[in-house]
Amino acid sequence: MPQTMHLAAFMNAGPMGTSGWRHPDADPAFLSPSYYRHVARLLESACFDLAFIPDALAVPRSLGGSFRPAVEWGSGTPRLDPMGVLGVMAGVTEHLGLAATLSTGYHEPWHLARTLATFDHLSEGRAGWNIVTSFQDAEAQNFGSPRLPPREARYARAEEVLQATAQLWDSWQDDALIQDRTSGIFGDADKVRAVNYSGQHVSTQGPLSVPRSPQGYPLLIQAGASPSGRDFAARWADVIFCSHASLASAIDFYRDIKQRVARHGRDPAQVRILPAATVVVAETDAEAQAKHRAFAELVHPLAGLSRLAYHVNVDLTQYDLDAPLPDLEEVGVQGHYEEVLEFARRENLSIRETGRWYGARTEGDMVGSPQTIADNMALWLEKGAADGFMIQATHLPGAFEEFIQLVVPELQRRGLHKTEYHGTTAREHFGLARPGRDAWRQRADLRGKQ
Ligand SMILES: Cc1cc2nc3c(=O)[nH]c(=O)nc-3n(C[C@H](O)[C@H](O)[C@H](O)COP(=O)(O)O)c2cc1C
Repeated sequence: MPQTMHLAAFMNAGPMGTSGWRHPDADPAFLSPSYYRHVARLLESACFDLAFIPDALAVPRSLGGSFRPAVEWGSGTPRLDPMGVLGVMAGVTEHLGLAATLSTGYHEPWHLARTLATFDHLSEGRAGWNIVTSFQDAEAQNFGSPRLPPREARYARAEEVLQATAQLWDSWQDDALIQDRTSGIFGDADKVRAVNYSGQHVSTQGPLSVPRSPQGYPLLIQAGASPSGRDFAARWADVIFCSHASLASAIDFYRDIKQRVARHGRDPAQVRILPAATVVVAETDAEAQAKHRAFAELVHPLAGLSRLAYHVNVDLTQYDLDAPLPDLEEVGVQGHYEEVLEFARRENLSIRETGRWYGARTEGDMVGSPQTIADNMALWLEKGAADGFMIQATHLPGAFEEFIQLVVPELQRRGLHKTEYHGTTAREHFGLARPGRDAWRQRADLRGKQ
């Protein structure tokens, strides 16, 4: 019996990718609840483990410091607040896991703990948190500073935020709520405790105002690719999301992360790695290639560059666009930068050509017939590059509709994807244990502490 894969769906709370809104099968109604209800039902009908909403706290100002390219080409904006969108999606589903991206840089532990515990209760254990440190100066500028703190400082704050947030989640014992009408005792005060967390970046007293939630901690997701990002992910994440320009680099990443997890005293099998896969599928390989070319034609040549500049947090117009991409010292999203460098060097591309490619890139070579895509996904699993995939839509809802109509049945026929849900919580879908109270101690970086 082959190993079954985990499937997550990467979907913006707004238009997709660089020019996804221009696709004839894109629904322009991304500001309306019916759009998200439709996608949620669709994903649940195909037994997806998770819907995942990326986010950033700014309209990108990646080229020449202006937000014009983002607005004019519909790249990286608008973005609705993920929690509101997930609430709508939770209302029409029973199993689908639902993850929001929330930044450790610009939220306080108390907000994070309360929002996510509330959503975990109201979705009956389906909440997930994509933990990000934010990657653009434009985000810092919306919160009163001219620049993002350097990466190490961002991860130092993230570590404290996670420790404090997890302790807030643990501040109520699972059985603290009594509600005994006869005795008049509502809650057992001995089973609720203060947190009194005091760090260099964040402090909080606690306890939280929300009792411990069905999953204990929501599903914790991370996508850091720098050494500090990988260590942080290896300590805290249940699911790791990444993006690669080749099977070889995906295998290296997978091996490296699982080793880091083990070095941290955690069970590598309790961490799932999902590379991004932008799938373009049609009945035949030739039709799928033609579809991908037609999609690439929709991308304004500079819109891809603007998106790349946004992801690396470097205004690339300061360089000669017809020269190769230079080595950039500190970039926004290390994972995307590594993927781009690998591809651009292999193909010998200029910055301009790299930007054009980036606007319509399809990670993981997932363009083809359902058989080709299933073969490829099976290969990634077999070779130790993936525990499943984060399916990225080029446009919504069309790309997920096609994936579900064409690829999912092929995966199911091969025994690579489940045909029904076996659990109810997001953690159960990924085969992950529910963290007990104080599980944070096993994940935290306690070096230098008692
Ligand atoms: C595939 C992928 C998706 C990501 N999605 C987001 C996102 O939605 N929002 C965000 O702020 N950061 C996102 N990131 C950024 C990272 O989670 C991380 O915070 C950032 O890359 C800095 O860490 P690093 O230097 O270790 O990579 C993403 C990264 C990757 C590789």
